[in-house]
Amino acid sequence: MSSLNQSKTLKNLQEAFAGESQANRTYLAFAKKAEQDGHLQVAKLFRAAAEAETVHAHAHLRAMEGVKSTADNLKSAIDGETHEFVSMYPKMITEATSEGFDQALRSFTFANAVEKVHANLYQNALDNLGNNRDTDYYVCQVCGNTLEGEPHEACEVCGAAKVAFKKID
Ligand SMILES: [Fe+2]
Ligand SMILES: [Fe+2]
Repeated sequence: MSSLNQSKTLKNLQEAFAGESQANRTYLAFAKKAEQDGHLQVAKLFRAAAEAETVHAHAHLRAMEGVKSTADNLKSAIDGETHEFVSMYPKMITEATSEGFDQALRSFTFANAVEKVHANLYQNALDNLGNNRDTDYYVCQVCGNTLEGEPHEACEVCGAAKVAFKKID
């Protein structure tokens, strides 16, 4: 076995990980739609397949050595989030603005704002690793804004009411 770096297999694992990850989120969205339409059995099937795609995605990620120590994982998460709000989303926001795609613009703008929040939460967690206090997280179901501790006001990112926040177990 040669080294994974620069192998075709590493590229294949990355491609398969991206595909399985996307299938997972797509199927969950399809399940929600099937549920709204009253196709409860189809919704269940989509959720079952979504679960299986997660098993595949995680196995691919582990095979490409993408899961390290928690400190390293936090650093990797901070790098990913930072890349998104420093370069990826700003460019996408500019392009959606100039092309006039309002829904995409709104979606990119919300994600961009929330990736900054995530980078900060991860940085704090890394700084306090081993002494992280026990707090609950709440996620805005409109924009993804992520709070440490209970929401006390409307969402700062999208303006949704407090009830839009879902507690994460
Ligand atoms: Fe994020
Ligand atoms: Fe929000």
